[in-house]
Amino acid sequence: MKKDIPLALSFDDVLLVPKRSRLKSRREANTSTVFTKKIKLNIPLVSAPMDTVTEDKMAIALARHGGIGVIHRYLPIEKQAELVRRVKRAENIVIEEPYTISPHEKVFVAKELMHKYGVSGLMVVDKGKLVGIITMRDIKFEFNGDRRVYEVMTPREKLIVAKPGISMEEALEILRKYKIEKLPLVDKDWNLKGLITAVDIIKKSQYPTAARDSKGRLLVAAAIGIREGFMKRVEALVKADVDALVIDVAHGHMDLVINTIKRIKREYGDDIQVVSGNVATPEGVEDLASAGADAIRVGIGPGSICTTRIVTGVGVPQITAIMQCAEKAREVDVPIIADGGIRHPGDVVKALAAGASTVMIGRLFAGTDESPGPIIHRNGRRYKVYRGMASFYAMLAKEGSEKGIIDIDTEDISDYAFTAEGVEAFVEYKGSVEEVIRRLVAALKAGMSYLGAKTIEELWRNAEFVRISWAGWRESLPHDVEPIE
Ligand code: XMP
Repeated sequence: MKKDIPLALSFDDVLLVPKRSRLKSRREANTSTVFTKKIKLNIPLVSAPMDTVTEDKMAIALARHGGIGVIHRYLPIEKQAELVRRVKRAENIVIEEPYTISPHEKVFVAKELMHKYGVSGLMVVDKGKLVGIITMRDIKFEFNGDRRVYEVMTPREKLIVAKPGISMEEALEILRKYKIEKLPLVDKDWNLKGLITAVDIIKKSQYPTAARDSKGRLLVAAAIGIREGFMKRVEALVKADVDALVIDVAHGHMDLVINTIKRIKREYGDDIQVVSGNVATPEGVEDLASAGADAIRVGIGPGSICTTRIVTGVGVPQITAIMQCAEKAREVDVPIIADGGIRHPGDVVKALAAGASTVMIGRLFAGTDESPGPIIHRNGRRYKVYRGMASFYAMLAKEGSEKGIIDIDTEDISDYAFTAEGVEAFVEYKGSVEEVIRRLVAALKAGMSYLGAKTIEELWRNAEFVRISWAGWRESLPHDVEPIE
């Protein structure tokens, strides 16, 4: 045991020293960065894989603004893969495998499928050939769900179609000319080859800085565990075209995690990016990097809903953890994700300045329209639930989703209560997450400009921290005035 106890610091213990700036305006600050060795982002923000933070809607919002969301793993494999597919399809210029239905299917099935996939229309296909399109509009007032799709669809003769390989400009021209929403792509024998939708083209021009893959689809990551059978989840997610897998484990510096990285890398090579963690030491970074990790999550216990440090006595205050891990990460050439503990916009700047490439956020993104869960009215105010994934109820729900049923009269659930390392909480409802993202990015650009940094790399180079006292912290907050609510 080492007898010297070093001091470790967190966000509120430090401030960044301003530096001479050559930037003419904050707008010149370029926030692009890397999420993993191979995945580039336009903003360094990542949403946490938690069941009250990231499902498809959150991941879509993050990617549209240039970041990435990690879809949580506390749901059945097929459901998680479906959420990934939804993100990949959300703004796809060419949907290569549009959702289809048989002409002989009943109308109520078409309705159900549209609802399930969150789309407004289905391609009607018979033996691979396009025979029509059925849309919500066709069936909105069709109260007899037993009628057949071919009776209500727009038939092939009336469809406007195009050939695969059509340019975006040509497609836009056709959509505009015929005032249609969907343009199916077919070969000369009417084999369905894809679909272009008006909404997707419009959205693409609406979000020019979105984080996209080489096919123009939004980027998305998904979490996996390390329990037996995890490869089934990996397979389903890879099939759904996920861009990165995040091995989501509280203590990442473990043989089991190292073996999991190796196993996935052996199977898929560089076709899939693997993020691993969580660690808080340079040794952790070194071991995960040499196992093949493409990015490493740093943070043991800084999260707003975490009780790991209180329950187990283990953790490293986040600024020290990021700094020490980032130094090693540079050596082994792997990006660091600073995970947890972001309370103020300035903490994002501090986390990046300390050497992280991206920042993972839970609480600040929870309580928004895009986070899963209902709005709860309480004492005249609006809230949403935000909970740690190692909290009592989250663990119970996870076990329940695996077993299908949990009988608390007969099963011993005290284990969960004793091993919980997180809490359930209310967070105030904040409206759209877009506002939160915009505020954080604006604050980051301002922080970069104070440090004379045009890029994140320059922010690393120019960063100089000072430790502050309690008086310094008090001075940092509004003081001696009565703020107007
Ligand atoms: P923030 O501070 O953004 O932190 O809310 C989100 C991060 O917290 C971690 N996390 C947990 N840590 N017990 C923990 O010790 C938990 O139950 C728990 N759930 C989430 C996780 O790293 C997340 O990204």
